[in-house]
Amino acid sequence: MRVSTVTDGIYRLSANIENILFESLWRMPDGIAMNSYIVKGEKTAIVDGVCGWDGVPETLFEQLKKINVAPESIDYVIVNHMEPDHSGWIESFRKIKSNFTIVTGKRAVPLMKAFFDITNDIMVVGDGDSLDLGDGRVLAFMEIPNVHWPETIATFDTKSGTVMPCDAFGSFGTLDEAVYDDECTEEQLVFYERQAIRYYANIVAVYSIPVVNAIKKASTLPIKIIAPGHGLVWRKNPMKIVNDFLRYASYQKGPCENEITIIYGSMYGMTEQGVQPALEALEAEGMIVHKHKVPEENLGDILMSVWSSTGVVLAMPTYEYNMFPPMFAVIDELGKKKVHNRKAFRFGSYGWSGGAQKELNELVQKYKMNWDFVEPLEFKGKPTKKDIATIETRCKQLAAKVKEAVASKPEDTPAAPEKRHGTTEAKE
Ligand code: FEO
Repeated sequence: MRVSTVTDGIYRLSANIENILFESLWRMPDGIAMNSYIVKGEKTAIVDGVCGWDGVPETLFEQLKKINVAPESIDYVIVNHMEPDHSGWIESFRKIKSNFTIVTGKRAVPLMKAFFDITNDIMVVGDGDSLDLGDGRVLAFMEIPNVHWPETIATFDTKSGTVMPCDAFGSFGTLDEAVYDDECTEEQLVFYERQAIRYYANIVAVYSIPVVNAIKKASTLPIKIIAPGHGLVWRKNPMKIVNDFLRYASYQKGPCENEITIIYGSMYGMTEQGVQPALEALEAEGMIVHKHKVPEENLGDILMSVWSSTGVVLAMPTYEYNMFPPMFAVIDELGKKKVHNRKAFRFGSYGWSGGAQKELNELVQKYKMNWDFVEPLEFKGKPTKKDIATIETRCKQLAAKVKEAVASKPEDTPAAPEKRHGTTEAKE
């Protein structure tokens, strides 16, 4: 972890967080970097904080020392977003300094009371408001609601063209030596692109329409640097992360990429007997295939794969006249995340009456997912050779639908980076 200069008068403080589930829910195999920014004019502001977990605020205060900023000299605490990974350190900061002004959006005010019992010295800002720090440094504010909480604002330094949008344009992945895009190798940029889509799919995905609205709104600003609350700071090519987020947002309604995610659960291995033939049939059609087994794998890994996949294979048996419960949980979450318009195929085993297919149909209907299924296949017990052949045939039909959908994407959709064909499994 290091403190660094983003641009003249703006400094990045940071903490790498590892070995936790983000929001106590999402696996982060490569951790996450928390960013906080000091902005200096004649007065000093801090934009967002790092989380308040044990030892982390102290890390931030140590970094302040390195840039010769005494915590007591901070005049303004700008809270772009109230989620405690950014706001939680306020409790620690108050122990050091009691008289500072909180600058935040109007919807944050009730949460400031509810989270920290703070009701005084709050400057409410919104679209068109600004804060003059002196020495030519004027901060402007923009409301970007639901990216990803309703109260979220972005702070824009008019002097340097640096926007600090908190969660927007963020990514997972800790940062060490390379913390700016201009310090990254091509390989590192590819790594952080994977981290960004994991972050987007897990944290932001459901709010894809507000993301696009925020990008449209921010496009009126002369942005030169994007300094998010998580992950890389973009100085060389800020449009790279903007276009990536536009592409991720487009994935909600699809079509996405020439990718198919197989999600399967199997009680005694009978449904699973169809998985490898399905995978091979899809690969033979040139598809990138992501394979996930439930309940063994984390929901966040599955979401990450499905988010960029135009096609989905669901393989699950019937369990107590319904879907195998871990598969229900996954599809229920896909519905809540508004994963719409996928091409899909479902197969699975039953012992007595079946019932998984009926419940799947109900769930897809309930969330208005508008998935386009090729004919499903159910088999009693283990699949016969004929069943396996049918799985292969239907997977080829699915691949054809995926290719056709991807080919129909609007030409102005930002292009995805090149990926190798083959199979990915959540082993990273
Ligand atoms: Fe990084 Fe919504 O918190």
